[in-house]
Amino acid sequence: MSSEPEVKVLLSRQEIAATVNKMAADISRDYRDRNPLLIGILKGSFIFLSDLVRQLDFPLEIDFVAISSYGRGRTTPGELKVLHRLKSPIKGRHVVVVEDIVDTGLSLAFLMGYLGKRKPASLKLCVFADKPSRRRVPVTIDYPGVTVPDKFIVGYGLDWDEKYRNLPDLSYIEPIR
Ligand code: IMP
Ligand code: MG
Repeated sequence: MSSEPEVKVLLSRQEIAATVNKMAADISRDYRDRNPLLIGILKGSFIFLSDLVRQLDFPLEIDFVAISSYGRGRTTPGELKVLHRLKSPIKGRHVVVVEDIVDTGLSLAFLMGYLGKRKPASLKLCVFADKPSRRRVPVTIDYPGVTVPDKFIVGYGLDWDEKYRNLPDLSYIEPIR
């Protein structure tokens, strides 16, 4: 019996490109003259952020944060930690957080609170994939991409045990977790 889970395509690379173009158009309309700071959340957002910024033809800056993950169950946003800190001060900046997926919402609820305390001029959220069925805390997505079903999503930067980030299509695997 093979131990490799079956991988199925949810959104093709062409559909991904169309979604990213639409999101980039919305961000361009709002940030063209604001020199925004785009903050990617490591590691999952690295491919989406790379695609997105190459569709933005105006001055901007990029930084990254990493936050601790949590076990299933009892976690609250207050128990999370920032592991890799921002290199840029965000006070007075127009900040757009760029994330791969929102699932329970715990990570983003924590991070948006953490960034909000540092007094940015504005703070918005751009998320490629929204999995609303598992939300535990509310999260407002200012620039949404696609809604995904309650499956374990991989590819386009998203991993299962650090594997499959390099798949060009947004895909899912049958649950083993
Ligand atoms: P949260 O549950 O919304 O806090 O999501 C936390 C993080 O878990 C996300 O930023 C992703 O990195 C990861 N994650 C959530 N759902 C999935 C999934 O379906 N596949 C892969 N990673 C996921
Ligand atoms: Mg993530």
